[in-house]
Formats: sequence, C-alpha cells, structure tokens
Amino acid sequence: MSSLQLEGVAKGYGSRKALDGFSLEVGEGERVALLGPSGCGKTTALRLLAGFEAPDAGRVLVGGSVVAERGRIVVPAERRGIGMVFQDLALWPHMTVRGNLEFGLRAQGVPSQERERRIHQMLARVELLEYADTNPGSLSGGQQQRVALARALVLRPRALLMDEPLSNLDEELNLKLRAEILQLQAEFGFALLYVTHDREEAFALADRIVLVARGRTILEGDPAG
Ligand SMILES: Nc1ncnc2c1ncn2[C@@H]1O[C@H](COP(=O)(O)OP(=O)(O)O)[C@@H](O)[C@H]1O
Ligand SMILES: [Mg+2]
Repeated sequence: MSSLQLEGVAKGYGSRKALDGFSLEVGEGERVALLGPSGCGKTTALRLLAGFEAPDAGRVLVGGSVVAERGRIVVPAERRGIGMVFQDLALWPHMTVRGNLEFGLRAQGVPSQERERRIHQMLARVELLEYADTNPGSLSGGQQQRVALARALVLRPRALLMDEPLSNLDEELNLKLRAEILQLQAEFGFALLYVTHDREEAFALADRIVLVARGRTILEGDPAG
C-alpha cells in the first residue's frame, strides 16, 4: 500500500503555478528523495501532503484514503499521522526541548504519564536527555536538528517529510545527520519523503529519486540503476 500519494495535483499562487499535473507515490517504509532546483514546487508538494493547504485540482491520499481533493481538506493535518521537519526547523524558541516534544502529544490527547515516558525515551534515543529543560536557541545546529527530528518522531508518524533540513550545515555535520536519519528510519520504519536540491544528498538517503522541474515530475529512478 502507498503511504503518501499526490494524484494529478495542481496548486497555484495568483497566476503562478507552483505545481501542475504533479503525481508522486511513496510506499510504506520507502525512502524517496524529491530533487529539483529552487522554485520548482518541492515545498508546495510537502505542504499539500502535510495538510497545510488543499490542492486546486487533483487528490492527496495518505495510507490509501483521500485526505484532500480539489479545494477541500478532508482530513486535517493533525490527523494524518505525518511528521514534518521544516527547512528552518521552526522549533518553538519560548518552549524548552521537552515542551517542543510535548506540544503535539498533548494535542493528540496522550495522557501525562505516557507523554513523559515517550518524551524520555525519544530524548534518550537522540542523546538530548540532558537538554530537556533547555531552550532550543542555546543548542548547537546539530542538536537543534535532532530536536526537530525528535519532535516529529515522538508522535510515531507513518511518514516523515523533510524539507532541505541539512542544507545550512557544514559537510561533517551533514554527513553525520544523514547517517542518523537513515538509522532512525530503519528503526521506526516510517516512510521518508526527503526534499533537497543536492544530488549527492538525494543519492545517499533515498531508495528512489524523483526529479522535479517547474511543478512537474520529469524522471524517476533508483539511485543504483
Ligand atoms: N505562499 C506563496 N505565495 C506565492 N507564491 C508562492 C508561495 N509559495 C510558493 N510560491 C511560488 O511557487 C513556486 C514553487 O515554490 P516552492 O514550492 O516553495 O518551491 P521549492 O520548494 O522547490 O523551492 C515558486 O515560484 C514560489 O515563488
Ligand atoms: Mg522549498
């Protein structure tokens, strides 16, 4: 079954078409990279999947069910089981690391003891337990990336969307975090849709690469082939 699907999706802003007849499918537990130049519609594709907007035309499916179609959101973002790591991370600066993780769990109605247990387990997993009561602004770039990952994964999403999360890091940290993402994916088994404009990053992270230009898919292939 596919985890994530865009079917013939169009999305425009004013007269500008960000996506036009765009289709994409990510299987359960599959790792797909969306590769293309700036402005080709990558972030728009993620926003439609996450549920922040509805498509002008076409359908969005998650786990085989329609979650949005032509101008209409059917299933809201918080009920899609999708995690997102934004390009600028968008951590909440006025909350502690623990608070950042707890927010989504509360919104889902997870009871307090269970929240505490899951936050503890997740922070231990990404080696941030000692920073639980720190504000994310005082952490290093790599630690902030791990907070963003932990915040998404503590909700146990079926799929994780990542929007060029490593593009502002130096090479050493970039390589380290790639390995970390691959390890977490193998452990948790979520489907990964990873957006990047960096070929090498796409090849390192994905089972399958989808090339995008001007709001359309132009080529798909497996990195080894
Ligand atoms: N909120 C918006 N308002 C107006 N134009 C937008 C908006 N979001 C995206 N666009 C335009 O849509 C196109 C695709 O944007 P985007 O999906 O962000 O591309 P990418 O992530 O590949 O760089 C770009 O031309 C961009 O300027
Ligand atoms: Mg973008």
